[in-house]
Amino acid sequence: MEWEVPETDPYAYSLALAHAWREPILADAIQDLDPLPGSRGLDAGCGIGLPALMLAEAVGPGGHVTGLDISPRFLAYGERFAEQAGLSERVSFKDGDVRQVPFNDASFDSAWSVDCVGYAAILEPLPTIQELARVVKPGGVVALLMYSSQQMLPGYPELEARLNATPAGIGPFKPGMRPERHYYRALGWFRELGLEAPTVRALVGSVHAPLSEDLRLALAGLLDMRWGGARSELSPEDWADYLRLSQPDSPEFVLNLPDYYAFFTYSLFQGRVAR
Ligand SMILES: C[S@@+](CC[C@H](N)C(=O)[O-])C[C@H]1O[C@@H](n2cnc3c(N)ncnc32)[C@H](O)[C@@H]1O
Repeated sequence: MEWEVPETDPYAYSLALAHAWREPILADAIQDLDPLPGSRGLDAGCGIGLPALMLAEAVGPGGHVTGLDISPRFLAYGERFAEQAGLSERVSFKDGDVRQVPFNDASFDSAWSVDCVGYAAILEPLPTIQELARVVKPGGVVALLMYSSQQMLPGYPELEARLNATPAGIGPFKPGMRPERHYYRALGWFRELGLEAPTVRALVGSVHAPLSEDLRLALAGLLDMRWGGARSELSPEDWADYLRLSQPDSPEFVLNLPDYYAFFTYSLFQGRVAR
């Protein structure tokens, strides 16, 4: 792995691992955002900073990206990786809460949040998106990029459908939440907040055999992240099948299939701050 994070820091480790399959999707999203060269961007809930680094590449030498996160430990990784990438001049990291962004109104040309703002189980979406809009200049873009779905068990569509139907499988949405709080309804949130011309697009990433070691690790991590907590929500037979397919030491580990293929989708919501 290019971005070294110790396994003893599991959340940060999983973010670093996941970069192997997320990077092409992030690149696609950044192409869509098309930030102006020399512009200033905010990455809200930036984690260990890997998406912020990609955005910093996109804004070019005169631009700047600020990564904001509530975890100083994650930000320390971001600083180290920025140095490693030779981007320390172009990206900085700030400890803070996206619910009260520690910047003045209209400080940025754009703001985005990847897998953070928009998940109603974690943060109240409307006031948080409004907070992002507050720090973006009139005419600038507010964007949310949110993990949406996966197909990772080729040959086992029924099992995968049942896994996806569990509370773990529908996360970060929660059973019993009001439908309007589902992140696929973010167009309505944008409209309600007066963000102009809201749009959404699905972005797809795919992988197939032969898998690099980085991808194998990343996908094994994703199998565990999606459904590793679903035991009590499944029949014993389904749980046994899931383990048979998802454990690296199992003779039937799905990632060992010579014809393995999987895909993942993200949703990119964008809207403009009114002029
Ligand atoms: C799933 S991670 C995504 C990190 C990064 N955006 C990425 O895509 O690699 C969610 C991040 O949101 C951060 N976070 C959660 N609540 C937050 C809050 N209220 N303010 C700032 N950051 C927050 C977490 O610390 C974590 O780094």
